[in-house]
Amino acid sequence: MADYNRKDHLYKKAKEEGFESRAAYKLLEIQQTYKVIPNGAHVLDVGAWPGGWTQVSLDIVGPKGTVTAIDLVPIESIGDPRCKCITGDARDLEEILGHPGPCFDAVISDMSPKLTGIKEADQAGTVACADLALYVAQQLLKKGGNFVVKVFKGGEVEGFVKSARPMFNKLVRSELKSTRATSNEFYVIGLGFKGTS
Ligand SMILES: C[S@@+](CC[C@H](N)C(=O)[O-])C[C@H]1O[C@@H](n2cnc3c(N)ncnc32)[C@H](O)[C@@H]1O
Repeated sequence: MADYNRKDHLYKKAKEEGFESRAAYKLLEIQQTYKVIPNGAHVLDVGAWPGGWTQVSLDIVGPKGTVTAIDLVPIESIGDPRCKCITGDARDLEEILGHPGPCFDAVISDMSPKLTGIKEADQAGTVACADLALYVAQQLLKKGGNFVVKVFKGGEVEGFVKSARPMFNKLVRSELKSTRATSNEFYVIGLGFKGTS
């Protein structure tokens, strides 16, 4: 455990401040710079368990906003009437929601596959999650809405970024201070979705 301390200062800070995960600080950092979630927004949080991003989103959207959170794992901790927690696979989300069309102001995805330790397999799995998040955004994100997705360096990630770029008015890559120093993750942030029609 020379340079990887699972219980680092953000882990401890999250516990102290009542966040479900240290990941909460990543969304706070993204929001501070890019303002991806407007007040009053309807947010879709994909791969949301244990709920750190969901908590942060609920704080940002205020009393008139909502957060729809989906994960394979049940999210049990968020008892807020503005939040709809769905246990399920993001692949089935459109169907679960009843094909509502573009209805979210922001689609945020911190989704990751179960890591195997096999580099190529893990890279392929993370790009598949990003592709899935982008697919979900194409179905459910309003024109002008914002998109956040986690990716990892290597593999097919450059192809993913290239495919997402034309869909937004602006697309940026962001390496966060709150990401562990040992991780090669970064976030792709799409601002101003151009819509599908
Ligand atoms: C890093 S965690 C998310 C942490 C969360 N953003 C937070 O702030 O607490 C990644 C999550 O993605 C979920 N996930 C992976 N594939 C998924 C899928 N196909 N559909 C829904 N959730 C998925 C996993 O179950 C896992 O809980």
